[in-house]
Amino acid sequence: MPERVDFSANAKIYDHRHGAVISDQLAQALATRLPRGATIIDIGAGTGRVSVSLAGKGFQVVAVDPAVPMLQTMKQKSAAPLWAVAAEGSRLPFRRNSADSVVLARLLYLVADWQRLLREAKEILKPGGILFHEWGNGDASEAWVQVRERARSLFQEAGIEIPFHPGARSEGEVDSCLRDLGFLRRDQIEAGAGPAITLADFLNMIQSGELSYVWNVPKEVQDSCLPQLRCWCEGKFDVHQPAPVPADLSWVVYENAG
Ligand SMILES: C[S@@+](CC[C@H](N)C(=O)[O-])C[C@H]1O[C@@H](n2cnc3c(N)ncnc32)[C@H](O)[C@@H]1O
Repeated sequence: MPERVDFSANAKIYDHRHGAVISDQLAQALATRLPRGATIIDIGAGTGRVSVSLAGKGFQVVAVDPAVPMLQTMKQKSAAPLWAVAAEGSRLPFRRNSADSVVLARLLYLVADWQRLLREAKEILKPGGILFHEWGNGDASEAWVQVRERARSLFQEAGIEIPFHPGARSEGEVDSCLRDLGFLRRDQIEAGAGPAITLADFLNMIQSGELSYVWNVPKEVQDSCLPQLRCWCEGKFDVHQPAPVPADLSWVVYENAG
């Protein structure tokens, strides 16, 4: 498994599934927790779903991502000025105590050295600075997560040690690491549910390569495992019943207290 999951080939279709920008209501909720004109570092910013919205609210936003095509898509979307930096989140090219806020959205499950990334985030945040975390990768109770984890098991049984998502495995793990680093959990902003899709659609998205689950799985392994996955899924769930993916989205607001 490479050190990071490369989203470069996903730049043109990413917004179709995740939305181009966050809602104005959510952007406003984030904004009210920050000082006016705050400097925000959005790590793993992707196509700027969050960065573009916050830049539009007058913040000084620096979007960091190693996948340059994602950043290029972001630049095309933003009417407000914002800065793009191609870098790994665990090796940030910024001074200590230089940011008022750090954004981590839908990222930490993708990064093998996610604890190091959190240490870097703490280094660049000012004392009292705000870290926003959106997990966005579902909960073990959700059917689509069970299908994803079944896919992981099948790929592993076929010899792929870490087929996808080499990073954090749960939001609880992230929360515990942040507390150990001296962050205080201040608040939570509810952002509703993800888009409703059927498991049949979800399986098709896995098979077509739209989702990162197969990007590091050789074709012959996919060809043997994905029919088994579909069969398992059809035996366990109603694959034609739409459900939100994920069921809940929320943003946790942490303060750099240590
Ligand atoms: C699922 S997307 C999330 C994008 C954006 N944060 C959002 O919420 O829409 C994950 C992004 O993290 C980036 N990424 C992957 N590994 C990374 C790393 N080690 N450091 C920083 N960004 C990384 C990917 O290139 C991709 O753009």
